[in-house]
Amino acid sequence: MEMEMQTELSQLEQQAQHELGSIESLEALAQWKSSYLGKSGALTRLSKGMGKLAADERPAMGKRLNEVKESLEAAFATAEARLKGAARAAQLASERVDVTLPGRVPDVGALHITTQVLRDVVAIFAELGFQVWESREVELDDYNFGLLNFPPDHPARDMQDTFYIDLPPDAPRVLLRTHTSPGQIHAMRRYAPEPVRVLLPGKCFRNEQVTARSEFMFHQFEFLAVGEQITLGDLKGTLLAFAERMFGVGTQVRLRASYFPFTEPSAEMDITCFLCGGKGCRICKYAGWLEIGGCGMVHPNVLRNGGYDPERFSGFAGGFGPERIAMLKYGIEDIRWFHSGDLRFVDQFR
Ligand code: DAH
Repeated sequence: MEMEMQTELSQLEQQAQHELGSIESLEALAQWKSSYLGKSGALTRLSKGMGKLAADERPAMGKRLNEVKESLEAAFATAEARLKGAARAAQLASERVDVTLPGRVPDVGALHITTQVLRDVVAIFAELGFQVWESREVELDDYNFGLLNFPPDHPARDMQDTFYIDLPPDAPRVLLRTHTSPGQIHAMRRYAPEPVRVLLPGKCFRNEQVTARSEFMFHQFEFLAVGEQITLGDLKGTLLAFAERMFGVGTQVRLRASYFPFTEPSAEMDITCFLCGGKGCRICKYAGWLEIGGCGMVHPNVLRNGGYDPERFSGFAGGFGPERIAMLKYGIEDIRWFHSGDLRFVDQFR
């Protein structure tokens, strides 16, 4: 009887040790513990068989049972330490931080090329004594056209295709301004009969086919000076001062007769090509000159609409597109890139 139990006990110990060797997780280890050392485990079951032994066989068997129990408990403790250590090492490895890696550089914004050009223009005109004025983008038809001396249904309105805003028929006609010129009326009405010098930058909208040369939204800046004895010479002097600061000393200015309803006389303004200096190149299409905007002497009707007596006051005005200036200056071939949201384009002008 005793021999049988001894053999069983030895087999049990061997089997337990053997299984322990291949245990790889703490869950499996807990399972192992309860099946060998637990309350209803194999050792407990064997020790219950002690009752069947003869009294003189019991002490030796009891001692042996204890030895096996202690050896399995020790083996358990060793295995537990090994598995816990491995788990901790795995966790540490997964949380490893390489402090020698270079950091990530945060993306820093920059001014859009149009904003940069507008700011350059603002700075130059500020130096020439013009104050900056922002005027509304949603405008009354009257300000955009009528008060600027466009007669009703005059074909000159077709120069600028317009986005009208849907309103009840008895409401005044409202539109997205097609140019910054209506700001002239607002500024004159604010300051008349005092002399005024303003620069009006902002967005304009035209209901046109979008192409490489024209967008339905673009920017302009308008300049206006009204006072006593202002002449065409003042206009040209101002333009020259602006062109030299904007495009470089030595730039020349040429006025070509043109037509706008709100100026008389009217002119297109050309500057000598800043790339070839007037000799002729690809940018200026071998003309030596670049057209950059329109200008003229404020029409007497416009002065009157602004609140000035045209017998006493005169003035000059003009308008330019900063996108066009940027296109010429940087050889940008497509105006649609400006508001494409493509960072490959805007990043070139940081
Ligand atoms: N408003 C004109 C346009 O959008 C540009 C312009 C021409 C403005 C002559 C002026 C001016 O003030 O005098 O085409």
